Amino acid sequence: MTARQTRVGIIGAGPAGLALALLLERAGIESVVLERHTREYVENRIRAGILEYEVAELLRANGVGARMDREGFRHAGTNLLFDGALHHIDFAALTGKHVMLYSQHEVVRDLIAARLAQGGEIRFGAEVAEIAAIGGPRPVLHWREAGGERALACEIVAACDGFHGVGRAALAGALTGAMDAGALDAGGMESFDRAYPFAWLGILAAVPPAKEELVYASHAEGFALLSMRSATVSRLYLQCAPDELLSAWPDGRIWEALARRLAHPGFTLPTGPILQKSVTPMRSFVSEPMQAGRLFLAGDAAHIVPPTGAKGLNAAVADAAVLARALVRALRDGDERGLAGYSATCLDRIWKIERFSWWMTAMMHRFADHSAFDRRMQHAELEYYTSSLAGRTALAENYVGLPLYGEEG
Ligand code: APR
Ligand code: PHB
Repeated sequence: MTARQTRVGIIGAGPAGLALALLLERAGIESVVLERHTREYVENRIRAGILEYEVAELLRANGVGARMDREGFRHAGTNLLFDGALHHIDFAALTGKHVMLYSQHEVVRDLIAARLAQGGEIRFGAEVAEIAAIGGPRPVLHWREAGGERALACEIVAACDGFHGVGRAALAGALTGAMDAGALDAGGMESFDRAYPFAWLGILAAVPPAKEELVYASHAEGFALLSMRSATVSRLYLQCAPDELLSAWPDGRIWEALARRLAHPGFTLPTGPILQKSVTPMRSFVSEPMQAGRLFLAGDAAHIVPPTGAKGLNAAVADAAVLARALVRALRDGDERGLAGYSATCLDRIWKIERFSWWMTAMMHRFADHSAFDRRMQHAELEYYTSSLAGRTALAENYVGLPLYGEEG
């Protein structure tokens, strides 16, 4: 089989792979994106919907911000609700920044449209089965498409293939191979994992948003979140058991639970038809390092956060931004320093995002094994982070997003 050639082979057309392809394209570096699902599938996958300030700026600066600015919503703050009282966190006053409310699948649609309009290549229905020769100068992607086997020889492989992709295992194998071969600085892969004893039951409902900004609620019955998608569609979540059956949650039960958990003076929750229901598991996961030889991981392939704080997409785009910058320096200018430091640069930021998502999750949810002391601690935390200026600032600066390129600036 003769292999096709490209400069950067990108596995996965999620936010990480598509953002990387866009940034490389803008710098004149050719890439091919291989995606196992159909275009329709990836464009309709329902995920979170908050874009950090710098992520939104990055999209605008690269020509994919117009629809986001037209159809998305600018949120200059958010709300925390506990003991039946609402506490506003004013991002604009505390940080001078805001976030954009705009669905991940809309970002994906915009990124796909921009790539295709530039004549860039995305192969849908193309499943990568193997990443070969990672340690050499030309790694090869072997993929299946329409029943055929194909190969793509690359200078660099970016595995943006999500948590269940092939990239992370290939990277682990390459590290083990390097150790077996006695490479002096080779180490193995290490993973860090935390599962939470609950999940989120999410609904999409044909009702106008009940508030202008989000409400994160801590309630004796469990966490609830009020979010939105448009002037006519709301997105709401309830803490539930990890193995919750949707059949146990008819619409009436969902609306009643949401109304109780989100109750506060002057507030009524409008109800209406539920368009979609799903259960999202909660997990924190990081795999280190994020590179070996000519293979680089980005996004969910290397790390997962629980959805509290909506960092998943933002973390994926941040990796893509750091990788694109390093690749441009390496492939255009011959300077490999950024590439050598890719994993360390990303992990420094990732661990801060992991900490924030874990902390928001721990502060806002009910844990069945919590003692009375633990509950008092949680309450003191909620009080502190909503009443102290330093506390509110810490929450706001993490929520709007830490600097995209980390310390490097
Ligand atoms: N070959 C080709 N494509 C693959 C393969 C493979 N072997 N394995 C996985 N993929 C594709 C998946 O079909 C998916 O479209 O890789 C893509 C990975 O995209 P995402 O899962 O969206 O991951 P990422 O781009 O890192 O974005 C992270 O998405 O999962 C959410 O909450 C998460 O918001 C976060 C964001
Ligand atoms: C969402 O709108 O889906 C959303 C918003 C904020 C979160 C999580 C999800 O923290």
